[in-house]
Amino acid sequence: MDGVTVRYGGTTALAGVDLEVGPGERVALVGASGAGKSTLLAVANGSVPPTSGSVRVLGASTADRRVRARVGTVHQSLELVGRLRVVHDVNAGRLAGWSAARAAWSLLRPQGLPEVLAALEQVGLADRAFERTEQLSGGQRQRVAIARLLVQRPDLVLADEPASALDPVLADRALALLGEPTLARGGALVAALHDPGLVRRHCDRVVGLAGGRVVLDSPVTALTAADLAELYRTVP
Ligand SMILES: Nc1ncnc2c1ncn2[C@@H]1O[C@H](COP(=O)(O)OP(=O)(O)OP(=O)(O)O)[C@@H](O)[C@H]1O
Ligand SMILES: [Mg+2]
Repeated sequence: MDGVTVRYGGTTALAGVDLEVGPGERVALVGASGAGKSTLLAVANGSVPPTSGSVRVLGASTADRRVRARVGTVHQSLELVGRLRVVHDVNAGRLAGWSAARAAWSLLRPQGLPEVLAALEQVGLADRAFERTEQLSGGQRQRVAIARLLVQRPDLVLADEPASALDPVLADRALALLGEPTLARGGALVAALHDPGLVRRHCDRVVGLAGGRVVLDSPVTALTAADLAELYRTVP
């Protein structure tokens, strides 16, 4: 990102953000509520265009559909379709790579079921595959969103508080599942996280936002409790 500013009416959500993330990096995005974390992730996956400045992802424009198919997002709001059965919500991760005919047929006869069931097994939900997503708990839905990303096999993972509804054991497992396969393929992870323990265990670099600006960019090993306290104290 080069000089990325995003304004929503009178609100400046991002103010001149310069950020470069390389292959193999695991970046934690931290900062108080309203600091601009979700907006930064939305710019990175192309769903929010910058008001000014430029963004390139995986060497191309976010307008490129093939690039967007290689970017996997776990949204803060999860973006699941409650009336669908879990298998279909997981398969939504692969729609960008499928023809319209295959996507439509999949609603009748789920395509690639073994991969879907394997991903659900990894998040501990194999036995819930044919239930409606709306019948699952908040943490179970969050795990469906993670399974959706696992079947997508993206080269860049953008995760927006992906463990916010999970218990501590599942939270660690979720972060490992989000990072490890993508990093093994030479990709990168950028995750908005509030829990310092998750940041330290699953990331190498911390980028702190306050009032839409990058105010901290440091290796995790150099991060101090005072840095975090300052970040959450900062009023934009
Ligand atoms: N769609 C929108 N319309 C108007 N303002 C918005 C919109 N989305 C975000 N904002 C504003 O932009 C700023 C940054 O919001 P953003 O969602 O990026 O913060 P965040 O760091 O993700 O916060 P949280 O930790 O609460 O999720 C906030 O002031 C917010 O009110
Ligand atoms: Mg947010």
